[in-house]
Amino acid sequence: MPWSATIAGSLALVVAIMDHLNAIWALTAAICLLFSSFVWGYSVRALHETIDWPPLSNWRRQEYAAVWNSLADSMNDAAMAATGETSESGLRSSAMETVRNLLELAAISARDEVLEIGCGVGRIGKEIAPLCRSWAGADISANMLGHASARLKNLENTRLIHLTSVSLSDFEENSFDVVYATNMLAHLDEMDRWWYVQEAFRVLRPGGRIFIDNMDMESEAGWSMFSKDAIRYHDVQRPPYMPTISTAAEFSAYAKRAGFVDTRAHHRSPLVIVTATKPETAKA
Ligand SMILES: C[S@@+](CC[C@H](N)C(=O)[O-])C[C@H]1O[C@@H](n2cnc3c(N)ncnc32)[C@H](O)[C@@H]1O
Repeated sequence: MPWSATIAGSLALVVAIMDHLNAIWALTAAICLLFSSFVWGYSVRALHETIDWPPLSNWRRQEYAAVWNSLADSMNDAAMAATGETSESGLRSSAMETVRNLLELAAISARDEVLEIGCGVGRIGKEIAPLCRSWAGADISANMLGHASARLKNLENTRLIHLTSVSLSDFEENSFDVVYATNMLAHLDEMDRWWYVQEAFRVLRPGGRIFIDNMDMESEAGWSMFSKDAIRYHDVQRPPYMPTISTAAEFSAYAKRAGFVDTRAHHRSPLVIVTATKPETAKA
């Protein structure tokens, strides 16, 4: 195991230095340490880059439930599909940046009733629920929700809702203060993105905020992903869950056309985040 060799190398180097052993010992320990940490880093990268995603070519993108249920058979698969992390600590630390963005840009506070569309295993919900009045997670995949339910069982202000179509018809109009979708709209086609933004407008209270994000075509990282995928999937059937990127103009258009005001685009490479507010005077 490269990680255990790295730890052994570090210990050997510390002992060699502290015990004033001769320079040959210290040099040997340092070389071992350098080599094992290189192998460790390389193997981690290699493992990340060769995840064997299933092609799922029997389904179309819009068969969202079938696609995402088959990616979420086990908790490990679900977590990997949701965010590329499988350990609980990896899931929790991967949520932190989104949580910071939500607190800053959607100003989530202890008074707010919050809805996440496409909540997956509750990666973000687990961190946001303790900071707001209530958190609801909606998802089209029953398997994802099953795993989320196990992760969130100790958080009493959370609930999970199984969506059976691209709609928030399970929710009354004017029932949330914040609606967000993170790491999710990338998997939907544009018209379904637009549907959810309109639905978010309906279920938000006047003065409520929407927060949506995706990889940003205008960032270097977003463009790199897009252009590499264009080569990789040229003339090859694209998997139905393959993420597609967005621009600030696309998301801002949905928000404005749905009736939101104070629409703002935040470029936080590799993401573009759009936030907007339902006017105080709006009907649902
Ligand atoms: C990449 S995961 C992200 C999960 C979560 N937002 C996170 O960041 O950890 C995408 C999620 O969107 C859900 N999803 C896919 N299509 C959907 C749709 N049409 N409506 C609602 N949820 C959907 C999937 O089931 C999956 O849980």
